[in-house]
Amino acid sequence: MRIWRGDADGGSLGDYTVEVSEGEVVLDALHRVQATQAGDLAIRWNCKAGKCGSCSAEINGKPRLLCMTRLSDFDPAETITVTPMRSFPVIRDLVTDVSYNYEKARELPGVELGPRDADGKRRMMQVDVERGQEFRKCIECFLCQNTCHVVRDHEDNKPAFAGPRFFLRYAELDMHPLDTRDRRETVRDQAGIGLCNITKCCTEVCPEGIKITDNAIIPMKERVADKKYDPLVWLGNKIGLR
Ligand code: SF4
Ligand code: F3S
Ligand code: FES
Repeated sequence: MRIWRGDADGGSLGDYTVEVSEGEVVLDALHRVQATQAGDLAIRWNCKAGKCGSCSAEINGKPRLLCMTRLSDFDPAETITVTPMRSFPVIRDLVTDVSYNYEKARELPGVELGPRDADGKRRMMQVDVERGQEFRKCIECFLCQNTCHVVRDHEDNKPAFAGPRFFLRYAELDMHPLDTRDRRETVRDQAGIGLCNITKCCTEVCPEGIKITDNAIIPMKERVADKKYDPLVWLGNKIGLR
């Protein structure tokens, strides 16, 4: 394996040869390197089950979860190169500082529920519950954020661009039948959805298979571009008339 070692001041790839067993994943091999050859190798991980979103990195240049990438996916003679996510600042070795994403999460206006029904309850149709279900599968691995060329190739776009994970969240809230907020100005002016040119690279790397571009970004773009802030159209969307 070749593993990037270093910190914010710089680093380089180190060579490691490690024995592996059938059925193991890249994270297992890294743990063995850590246990036998490089006790100070920094890796962020938690669940080893593809659910916590912690172990994101780049394997042979492709953004992936370390715990969900099987060694059997590679040729036995192939050298596996593991590097940290490129779009975020390195803390040490494979661990990056993903606080950009938390800043973008804080900028996003949360749910504002309308009044309760006369009996004090809130009701929503099952079809509306299901519409947002795909978006709630997000494990916040930030692989989509790392991949999107808008920030990957242009660090200076970060202040003006929330990124695919958060366009997904905008769409989820916008499709919430009980939410009363109109976020179209925010997603256009503050979150920078116009910078997305629908390359779909975010969708390709999502380990949850969420159709980020088709099901979240494009519908949000349509709402921003077409509806022209017509209050009747907005109300129609909220109550499911399209
Ligand atoms: Fe990860 Fe997919 Fe969520 Fe993006 S949308 S953070 S790739 S799970
Ligand atoms: Fe970026 Fe995804 Fe759009 S990769 S450009 S947010 S379709
Ligand atoms: Fe939790 Fe990989 S360790 S997703």
